[in-house]
Amino acid sequence: MVDSLHGPADDTFMKGVVLAGGSGTRLFPLTKITNKHLLPVWDKPMIYYPLECLAKAGIEEVLLVTGGNNAGDFIRLLGRGAEVGIKSLQYTYQDGSGGIAQALGLAQDFAAGGPICLILGDNIIQRNIREPLRRFRHQGEGARVLLTPVDHPEQYGVAEIDGDRIVRIVEKPKQPPSNLAVIGIYFYDGHVFDIVRSLRPSARGELEITDVNNAYLARGQLTFDVLEGWWADAGENIEYYYQACLRVRAEGANQD
Ligand code: G1P
Repeated sequence: MVDSLHGPADDTFMKGVVLAGGSGTRLFPLTKITNKHLLPVWDKPMIYYPLECLAKAGIEEVLLVTGGNNAGDFIRLLGRGAEVGIKSLQYTYQDGSGGIAQALGLAQDFAAGGPICLILGDNIIQRNIREPLRRFRHQGEGARVLLTPVDHPEQYGVAEIDGDRIVRIVEKPKQPPSNLAVIGIYFYDGHVFDIVRSLRPSARGELEITDVNNAYLARGQLTFDVLEGWWADAGENIEYYYQACLRVRAEGANQD
């Protein structure tokens, strides 16, 4: 049975969306002739890690959104997704660089009204996300984000917390209200596409995922978990990329 908001009645079922576009300017010249998500992180291409993250949480129907000159390389690398544990891997293409929320908007037909887990293609985590996924499904509707303490919160979306509640999320604040970054793994119900359609571009000319999260917050429907284990934002800059390689080498990623 399928209903318009939640999709199939199985309450663990969820589709995944992985974003792998962008111009990769922060890793230039490594990204001069390829997409940053195809670069190696220790012994695998970067894009393997977010896909395995979804697969290990039981999310086996995935849409990969890419762009730029290397879209065909993702199909050659990943095919239907079997090697990374995905049952059905689909692809779509984002023209230009309209932001994370614009890329998410391209997944509307794929989501078919059901809940989704969105993951940025350069985010690598140490532990699996089964527990936050279970809590999101239990909450029934709205959105759920994952937070982790960082040394430079001004580089991220930052959450201000009051007890067990998020008060607000600020994108790249000059004066961060906390050290809790919103990492690039998000759970959304089927209403997310209505929210995306209502967004206006930010000062950097993008549809911001932080505006999506704040829209859920305004509805009283945004929850959070603090991430277990480490988070690596491998595409942020060359130093973080290198640190991600070292962490994966030393400790592995997506562990139970
Ligand atoms: C994006 C989001 C930001 C989030 C970060 C996580 O930043 O806008 O809220 O904290 O991803 O990686 P960007 O990669 O666009 O700088």
